[in-house]
Amino acid sequence: PGPGTLDIVIFGGSGDLAFRKLLPALYMAFLHERLEPGTRILGLGRQGWSRADYLAFIDSHSPAFIAPGAFSAPVWQRFLGILDYRCVDATQAADYAVLREPADRVPQRVFYLATAPSLFSQIGAHLDAAGLIDARSRVVLEKPLGTDLASARAINADIGRHFREEQVYRIDHYLGKETVQNLMVLRFGNAIFEPLWRAPYIRSVQITVAESVGVGSRAGFYDGAGALRDMVQNHLLQLLCIVAMEPPISLNPDDVRDEKLRVLRSLRRMELADVRRDTVRGQYTASLGEGPSMRGYREEENVPPDSRTETFVALKAHINNARWAHVPFFLRTGKRMQTRRSEIIVDFTGQPFSIFPNQSGGRPNRLIISLQPEESIQLEMMVKEPGSGMVPRPVKLELDLQSASDKRRAEAYERLLMDVIKGRLTHFMRRDELEAAWTWVEPILDGWKLLGERPRDYRAGTWGPAASSALMAREDLAWFEES
Ligand code: BG6
Repeated sequence: PGPGTLDIVIFGGSGDLAFRKLLPALYMAFLHERLEPGTRILGLGRQGWSRADYLAFIDSHSPAFIAPGAFSAPVWQRFLGILDYRCVDATQAADYAVLREPADRVPQRVFYLATAPSLFSQIGAHLDAAGLIDARSRVVLEKPLGTDLASARAINADIGRHFREEQVYRIDHYLGKETVQNLMVLRFGNAIFEPLWRAPYIRSVQITVAESVGVGSRAGFYDGAGALRDMVQNHLLQLLCIVAMEPPISLNPDDVRDEKLRVLRSLRRMELADVRRDTVRGQYTASLGEGPSMRGYREEENVPPDSRTETFVALKAHINNARWAHVPFFLRTGKRMQTRRSEIIVDFTGQPFSIFPNQSGGRPNRLIISLQPEESIQLEMMVKEPGSGMVPRPVKLELDLQSASDKRRAEAYERLLMDVIKGRLTHFMRRDELEAAWTWVEPILDGWKLLGERPRDYRAGTWGPAASSALMAREDLAWFEES
């Protein structure tokens, strides 16, 4: 291969993320001929493996994470042909020498840092010292990007010493989901929504990312993080930004990211009293009822029996700007919830005056955007109940996004990896955006520390602690599944 070739260099090449997500995503891109000939994938790890050892490892781990219908043994074998392995301990400067290439084959390099973030700074410095970074290089940073504002700033500053901001791809895989990207088209491609997409026509917004899985084998990381850092700081705030932002002047990366940044900067800072009143922390306990019984969080492998880490958060946020004045945004996420479901519910305000004698069935319009598992948009509207009276009854206008097009829907990681390869930054977080998200989250973490309360228990397989429903009930509202 001559110049103009691309190397995708994965730090943490034998880690969970690499074999579960990155290599299956790259395989899909390869299968659909989206990778240029000459592209090479280089897994890096501390194990003193040969190339054959690495291929054997990937071959035994990754296919399980490829959709059965998409797996083709001959294509997979050809895909393994573009994989290679280097033994590199990311903390050892001398190890980076194995990444040098002869002068007649200096590839463009994408460095994917799928390691603990505590290694990011060193990796940047060692890559630079080894002369492996040039103007064409790109670096992908996996979350969690820090554990608080100071650590996020430190990572950004260190990476910024070796890469220009346009070379840095901070990944939030929610931004790669088809349905999340579709939200922008829904909002800005349909003239009927924009005039109503504001106070006072919207009464409240709910954003739920519920998972049915527990902490699994990730307690080592998760117990030090908790749901606020793991999900709210990134995925839920990104969803909130897309729902709440002003129309960007174009789809150029900085135009979109400028608008998201403005939302994050407009979030009302939580004081201690707000933290106490407007946030709920929960932790799952064993389920005792019928069906598969599930362990409680504190009984999970590698979780300390006295852990106070939250596996559930619900909170009420406010955006201090004219569009969203007095419109509460309720965010909620948890592990071991009743079902896996991510959705955004936009509750419109009711009719200012009703001419109908019997309002029992009538209720305000509501837009239900389901992100996963099913991808759909529903608009609840009133129609007349058949019969002699004039009684309004809610019905759903429903759009099934899966059947709306027969084009293939790529997984988030494939879409985002292709964006990195093509140099498209729109769906990645900019430095100031990440820091603004931490600026808002940090007082909540501090408040919890000051309050010193244990998270509230909730049974595995339920919708979280009762206090979460109470948070809504205080405003005469209810979570979607309770209404
Ligand atoms: C990750 C979190 O970022 O997102 C995990 O670290 C979580 O804890 C996952 O399970 C959820 O992603 P998805 O795409 O399955 O909704």
